[in-house]
Amino acid sequence: MTRLFGVFRRISRTDYYEQIPKSAQLGVERKRRLLIVAARIFAVLTILLILGIFVSYKRPDNLFSSSSSPGRSAVFTTLYTNAYALGAATLGHSILRANVNASLVLLYLDDRVSSQALCITEAAGWENHAVSLISPPHGGEGIFYRFVDQYTKLRVWSVGEVLGFDSAVYLDADTLVRRNFDELFGMPWEFGATTDVYLDDRKFAITFNAGVLAFRPSMRTFDDMVGKLEKTDYPLGEAEQGFLNVYYRKDMVRLPYTYNANLATKYADEGMWNELKETMKVVHYTLVKPFWNTDIANDNLTTPEQVRGINGAEGANQWWREEMGWWREVFEDLMNEKGAAIQACYQ
Ligand SMILES: *[C@@H]1O[C@H](CO)[C@@H](O)[C@H](O)[C@H]1NC(C)=O
Ligand SMILES: *[C@@H]1O[C@H](CO)[C@@H](O)[C@H](O)[C@H]1NC(C)=O
Repeated sequence: MTRLFGVFRRISRTDYYEQIPKSAQLGVERKRRLLIVAARIFAVLTILLILGIFVSYKRPDNLFSSSSSPGRSAVFTTLYTNAYALGAATLGHSILRANVNASLVLLYLDDRVSSQALCITEAAGWENHAVSLISPPHGGEGIFYRFVDQYTKLRVWSVGEVLGFDSAVYLDADTLVRRNFDELFGMPWEFGATTDVYLDDRKFAITFNAGVLAFRPSMRTFDDMVGKLEKTDYPLGEAEQGFLNVYYRKDMVRLPYTYNANLATKYADEGMWNELKETMKVVHYTLVKPFWNTDIANDNLTTPEQVRGINGAEGANQWWREEMGWWREVFEDLMNEKGAAIQACYQ
């Protein structure tokens, strides 16, 4: 072993001596050249780095994921009837209470919604924007009467871009925010929605519910959608939800149930509903509305007293007492904080 090492040491020492330049002058020259080469490499790398930073700043959709350049975010809702005004107002208040980091934008149908209703939603924190109806395809034939206006929802894509929002969440006026959902704005996908829940044998369907949507506002997407409205084949009874399910069938991400906790879940799987309650971010009042029932005409603005009557009604609502209570709590908090401004809207 030692002999082997000795041989090795001798050989390497020989190499070492052979690599030493013959004259000291040559050594200095080599060092100088090496320094120049190193300096050049350093300069080129520095220029490339500066260029890289510059290019990544100039690109709107830069290479390093969207979350490194946060843009403006919005939460949208729509108002097609006066009867939903206090519903939308309470939703707005729930969004503010959850500290959602976004602008609140409400799109309303100009010829349907009264100035009183708009006064209420504004008092609650919404920025109101008038839009025109998107007529249902095929003259509205086969579409459930309550869904006829719903195609207008697609305007969130175009208005969202016009107002300069990069990411957005759409919430139906019959939803209530219970916890913050800011993470949806940084979602690295174009479109997200939650799987639907039905009362019939389907229970947990493969299609999604269009009451909560995470999306990227885009005029191009909007134009593309509108161009496909008449040609797309889907169950017309499902209106814009049916259309969106076909439009995004291959390019979407399923959001967890916590983002669209549909009351139907309580029937489909009560244990799941009880677990969901602990973390629920958005509850969707699909089967009962805490602020509306079929006795109220859609064009009639309800008063806070009427809403309290609907919400506290015994009988049918007993099964939903807790869920109605969540909404009522936010509603009373809204009335507490902004009741004077809201009451003034009825004058
Ligand atoms: C809120 O969003 C803006 C971008 O829209 C971002 O710059 C800001 O850091 C966010 N604030 C918080 C507290 O997350
Ligand atoms: C709607 O409002 C009008 C006028 O305020 C009232 O006469 C009518 O009874 C209301 N209809 C319903 C169904 O509430």
